[in-house]
Amino acid sequence: MQKLEPNDPCWCGSGKKYKKCHWLQDCELDKYRREGFRILPRTILYSAEEIEKIRAAGALNHAVLDMVQSEIKEGVSTEHLDNLVREFTYDHHAIPACLNYEGFPKSCCISINEVVCHGIPSPDKIIKDGDIVNVDCTTILDGYFGDSSRMYCIGNVAPNAQKLVDVAKECLEIGLKQVKPYGRLNDIGDAIEPYANDNGFSIVRDLCGHGIGKKFHDEPEVVHYAQPRQRGVLMVPGMVFTIEPMVNEGTWKCKFLKDGWTVITADKKLSAQWEHTLVVTENGYEILT
Ligand code: MF3
Ligand code: CO
Ligand code: CO
Repeated sequence: MQKLEPNDPCWCGSGKKYKKCHWLQDCELDKYRREGFRILPRTILYSAEEIEKIRAAGALNHAVLDMVQSEIKEGVSTEHLDNLVREFTYDHHAIPACLNYEGFPKSCCISINEVVCHGIPSPDKIIKDGDIVNVDCTTILDGYFGDSSRMYCIGNVAPNAQKLVDVAKECLEIGLKQVKPYGRLNDIGDAIEPYANDNGFSIVRDLCGHGIGKKFHDEPEVVHYAQPRQRGVLMVPGMVFTIEPMVNEGTWKCKFLKDGWTVITADKKLSAQWEHTLVVTENGYEILT
């Protein structure tokens, strides 16, 4: 790639001169690169106009999860909830990203109790009293993705299950607090894992958060466990990614079922997860979902 001169038009397509646009940021990035940070390609940095579109997709995805909140209860099948998610999404001129994604057959993932993630909605899976249920939805609006999940506690949930759900939510919040421009992406996992461990829980290692925007799953990979000796990826304004820690009651080890999707805990103890999509800003971050 040819080196841009300060008076050339900026690479981002803003039409501004490079020196008045991304020049300072690129100088800053060179400094961090020399310190040993991984600087990811510019293609994963989103402009203000694109972030507006991800924000709109994220807001609709939030509304999908609110709709689920009002419909989920003892006795309903996960298939029924999936139908509601698909219809609601289409009614709002959007597409459920999960449907047919790499062969996934449904419009969202619904993961009950020992299911860690990617549970496939089915007419045979009936929500029951005491269940802890993760519903993970991703919405494509005008070509941009918003990805988020919540836990729903059904009826009388046992204290240990409630604690797991609460700690998993706190893990997401602690991860979010680590997000800042020119920070280490690995600070997220470095903060989350000890917090889960101090509460007697473990962090899943087989599945991660991810870059998102124009694609469903992109760079960077966002691990939720600690990697303190690695500098790793630098967080840069305009980066959009998810944080989605999966927190287990027992071992972090998982089993992948033969349906090709469902992930369960190896010891069949409970698992909980919360997810948001966010953008790194000049001052910190903004949750987009
Ligand atoms: N929404 C999940 C995530 O957080 C991905 C689900 S992919 C599917 O990344 F195909 F299983 F739906
Ligand atoms: Co998701
Ligand atoms: Co995700």
